[in-house]
Amino acid sequence: MEILRKQFLRHVGQTSDAPLMIEVARAEGIYFYTPPTPEYPEGKRYVDLISGVSVSNVGHGNPAVIEAVCAQARDYMHIMVYGEMVERPQVKYAEAIAGLLPEPLESVYFVNSGAEAVEGALKLAKRHTHRTEIASFYNAYHGSTHGVMSVMGGEEFVGAYRPLLPDTRKLRYNCFEDLAQITERTACVLVEPVQGESGVRPPAPGFLEALRERCSAVGALLIFDEIQTGFGRTGEMFALLKYGVTPDIVCLAKALGGGMPLGAFVSSGEIMAGLRSDPPLGHITTFGGHPVCCAAGLAALTYMQEHRLAEQAEAKGRLFEELLTDHPAVVEIRRSGLLLAVELGSPERLYRAMELLKEAGYLSDWFLFCDTAFRISPPLTMTEVQVRECCAEIRAGVLDRL
Ligand SMILES: Cc1ncc(COP(=O)(O)O)c(C=O)c1O
Repeated sequence: MEILRKQFLRHVGQTSDAPLMIEVARAEGIYFYTPPTPEYPEGKRYVDLISGVSVSNVGHGNPAVIEAVCAQARDYMHIMVYGEMVERPQVKYAEAIAGLLPEPLESVYFVNSGAEAVEGALKLAKRHTHRTEIASFYNAYHGSTHGVMSVMGGEEFVGAYRPLLPDTRKLRYNCFEDLAQITERTACVLVEPVQGESGVRPPAPGFLEALRERCSAVGALLIFDEIQTGFGRTGEMFALLKYGVTPDIVCLAKALGGGMPLGAFVSSGEIMAGLRSDPPLGHITTFGGHPVCCAAGLAALTYMQEHRLAEQAEAKGRLFEELLTDHPAVVEIRRSGLLLAVELGSPERLYRAMELLKEAGYLSDWFLFCDTAFRISPPLTMTEVQVRECCAEIRAGVLDRL
């Protein structure tokens, strides 16, 4: 095991100075396991409290997803770059997604990742409006490519890469006053309906409606980034359904692929047509909408629907909140469905909590723009019994020891 860790540090490009360094041997349901050691002959078991950041919504090793992946891999994998061939898993998945979204969101452009979905959406908005200004929000995270970093809301992560895209504007999330900065110059406004990486900030009552109204009034496109909130996380299949606001474009990824890499941006047929001609090939992607990923995503979506996971997410999230909120170490809990931030009030307490969580066999994480709270966004398959067990262990093993 030690050799593998050394090879990991030497040969796998590192993104942080403090990787978790937990070796994974297998994963099932809400759990994953390390390889066996003398201390843990079955491997040490961890409860996955973050679902790979809102990816594994239908649980690890979901048999329906595995079956779909294997069947599709046997039929065919990559044939041709995106958009040329009629591939059944892609068509069927696009149809299913369109069926869940309000009109006119019916045209699904598949890509590989969340960042690529946002890139595609921004390009589409420029093409459609013939404008260049892009507005987004402070403390928003939309991905890590150059274009998307230009609209990311935290200068500490962005500064080293300037110059980035010109003509961008940052607004304050939940600030009605700032909406006046959206004008006839604005091509689009990009927003997470519930901000994730700022430490779970749901929209203020009426904020998304006012944003929609302002965008419509000045002819700017409204883009929802539902990459973290989509597929049941907030208690509805999509947060746009929860808040009853329909954007012009919605970006999807993470749970979209049922554990496989997949992204998409979805719009009306009319808007999407902007990428098709004059010039054509408005966005090119080799692997976007890979048939195995689409088959996995469709299987995961079907599983979610059959097991009513989105509908249950609110009650499970509420149970977490009820069982943790009265602990004296908890300053507050911010929540939307089964996406929670447990606020501890200081980075030091959070750092200590992360150590204790790991020791107790729980994988959590902090947030990119909030280093005082830990994240709870487990697979939506987590049962009520598991929620209760988890909260009792977190109280005794972590919160009581802070
Ligand atoms: C809200 C949101 N948008 C976009 C992304 C970027 O997705 P990806 O890492 O697949 O590029 C993330 C990833 O954490 C995210 O949380």
